[in-house]
Amino acid sequence: MKFFVDTADTAAIAELKELGMVDGVTTNPSLIMKAGRDILEVTKEICDMIDGPVSAEVVATEAADMIAEGRKLAKIAPNIAVKVPLTWDGLKACKTLTDEGHMVNVTLCFSANQALLAAKAGASFISPFIGRLDDINLDGMELIADIRTIYDNFDFQTEILAASIRSANHVTEAARIGADVATVPPAVLHKLAEHPLTDKGLDAFLKDWEKTGQKIL
Ligand code: E4P
Repeated sequence: MKFFVDTADTAAIAELKELGMVDGVTTNPSLIMKAGRDILEVTKEICDMIDGPVSAEVVATEAADMIAEGRKLAKIAPNIAVKVPLTWDGLKACKTLTDEGHMVNVTLCFSANQALLAAKAGASFISPFIGRLDDINLDGMELIADIRTIYDNFDFQTEILAASIRSANHVTEAARIGADVATVPPAVLHKLAEHPLTDKGLDAFLKDWEKTGQKIL
């Protein structure tokens, strides 16, 4: 499974990149706002740091304007994936931008039918939002499973990018079901390494080691 980092915080991306954890990055208007940086400037900086796809989202709502914004964002670097919302206009923009050879990430996907349309429109990535479905008492993981089945039934090449991931369990489940990518906030990625038995075991080993009076270095 590929890991994208869901942030526009370049320091967090740099730290995870050193560990080889970053196959790509996703941003959205809220994450750009949180970073407090100019979208073109920070996106360029991220694209220079990362070889994989870096999603940058359009903010227009009409297809023609989305396409114009997408073309501008795609000029930032060859590894830009233009992010468009899953609306009818977003699908039109997806088709045009993919026909022009750009990677497109169709975002804000909340149903299997929406995912089917995105694949038909040639999307490189579909972003089903797990956490936001769970927030309203629906099952985000069931959506990932449905999309996996449908894409496999018809051999669609669109990659399932599990988004709106809020917990370590979301990552495990998305991986188990076969999502191609998980876009994970840095704090959740750190949580993946945590286990109380690891901490307990390490503590016991270190206490015993102290009793030996030995040193390795
Ligand atoms: C990813 O592409 C989305 O922008 C992101 O995962 C949304 O997550 P949220 O629902 O926690 O805001």
